[in-house]
Amino acid sequence: MSTSSRSDPEGLHEFVCDLAHRAGELQLSRYEDPGTIREKAPKDIVTEVDLLCEELMVNAIRERYPNDAILSEERGGEISASGRTWLLDPVDGTANFARANPIFCACVSVLEGGAVTHAAVAAPRLGDLYHATLGSGAFRDSPEGRSRLRVSDTERLEYAFFGADLAFRGSGSSGPRRVLSASWQFRALGSAGVRGAWLAAGYLDVSIGTRNTAWDYAPTVLLVSEAGGKATDLSGGPWTHASDGLVATNGQLHAEVLEILAEG
Ligand code: IPD
Ligand code: CA
Ligand code: CA
Repeated sequence: MSTSSRSDPEGLHEFVCDLAHRAGELQLSRYEDPGTIREKAPKDIVTEVDLLCEELMVNAIRERYPNDAILSEERGGEISASGRTWLLDPVDGTANFARANPIFCACVSVLEGGAVTHAAVAAPRLGDLYHATLGSGAFRDSPEGRSRLRVSDTERLEYAFFGADLAFRGSGSSGPRRVLSASWQFRALGSAGVRGAWLAAGYLDVSIGTRNTAWDYAPTVLLVSEAGGKATDLSGGPWTHASDGLVATNGQLHAEVLEILAEG
């Protein structure tokens, strides 16, 4: 781990935000122009812009923090056992981006000692940069200025807005389906990063992700907990980069959601 950043967490946070912002600006410059689109796995696409954003981010981190580990969606990488790891989702919401749907973002998270310590989600077409530092709160920077994020105060699941991107087939989705049935309204945004940020902002009350893609969920873990909510793995244990999914809520609804997931 670089000693300069240990002694300069604010400098590190500024860099995290700037990195997400720069990738977001690149996305914006290619809005409606995603370039070549490849199906890297069935129903899983990558555009030229994903690769360009990843290159920008990886090069910038290597230059400033050469000893850090990097795990990014398209290039892969590794988690450092003892030092710092960067988790990168160069374009989150690629399927949206490829169709010029405005809900997409760039996600940058920093993992230290197993904890997410810094995160930024830049959603350039929405004009928002969401960011948080462990212990220092979660914020949104927009053209109107900076504001603190705070989760909703919804107390009853039957009045909750539930967010997920679920393929409604297979037994793996039965728990989230039950949560959906117990909620009031459903939101499928097509971007795990924006979904987590919107939960932190109070637009959603519950969010469930059922994959083990750490770059998708790490920003939600930090943004939501710093905004007063709760984020765990699917059984209520601490979320880690190896978890099979994420449950994030405004805190008040967490126990009930976990109970429903555990049924059956
Ligand atoms: C995807 C989006 C989507 C979620 C998928 C993710 P990508 O990320 O976040 O909302 O349902 O699980 O893989 O591929 O666009 O970076
Ligand atoms: Ca993603
Ligand atoms: Ca991605």
